[in-house]
Amino acid sequence: MIELRSLGHACFTLSDGQHTLVFDPYLRGNPQAVCGPEDLKVDCILVSHGHGDHLGDAVEIAKATGAPVVGVAELCRYCGQQGVSTVPGHIGGRLELPFGWVKITPAWHGSAVQTEAGTEYTGLACGFLVNMGGRTVYFAGDTGVFGDMAMIRRWSEIDVAILPIGDTYTMGIEDALIAVELLRPGLCVPMHYNTFDRIQQDPKDFARRAEGMGVRCRVLAPGESASL
Ligand code: NI
Ligand code: MN
Repeated sequence: MIELRSLGHACFTLSDGQHTLVFDPYLRGNPQAVCGPEDLKVDCILVSHGHGDHLGDAVEIAKATGAPVVGVAELCRYCGQQGVSTVPGHIGGRLELPFGWVKITPAWHGSAVQTEAGTEYTGLACGFLVNMGGRTVYFAGDTGVFGDMAMIRRWSEIDVAILPIGDTYTMGIEDALIAVELLRPGLCVPMHYNTFDRIQQDPKDFARRAEGMGVRCRVLAPGESASL
């Protein structure tokens, strides 16, 4: 059994009781955050892209815990330059990690970090297919819907799909429902909504409609967790 916990926005932890990983640890400055970066005890930090609401406090957490940052090569290079350990890969690649494996999935989105020198591009945005404790979790990252989500399902049956629904910068509810149809997960969990004015959505509407398609949905308020 594994536990999925929402920390707000696109930040989630996944734990098998022995190992804990975190997705997109944006906590400082995140109006939904339920804890600070100093509260995280993690073994692995998965970062989908360089935008501030995803890379977030990854470098600080990596320094404090010694956990490596996992992501595409360019983003890992950026983090490596800040003095943290990394596990670089790229889209389509599978990484063997102490808790299981991670496959890096495509995402249609940008990826850049704002530094004092200006904008530094950090490769392609991505998502992650994670196998831990006998479960497979798909974390889509920031993306629009795309037909190759059907291919992600060929890589593995998906027990849980964590999908953005906020619209404006990512899929909205209509398109996230198309994603649900392509992925056919055992359970879907919405993310990336209501943190800012421009991504206001009703997650219950998404949940109702996903359930109407025969796919269970769990809306996790920041701080809430689900056993999978
Ligand atoms: Ni983004
Ligand atoms: Mn975002």
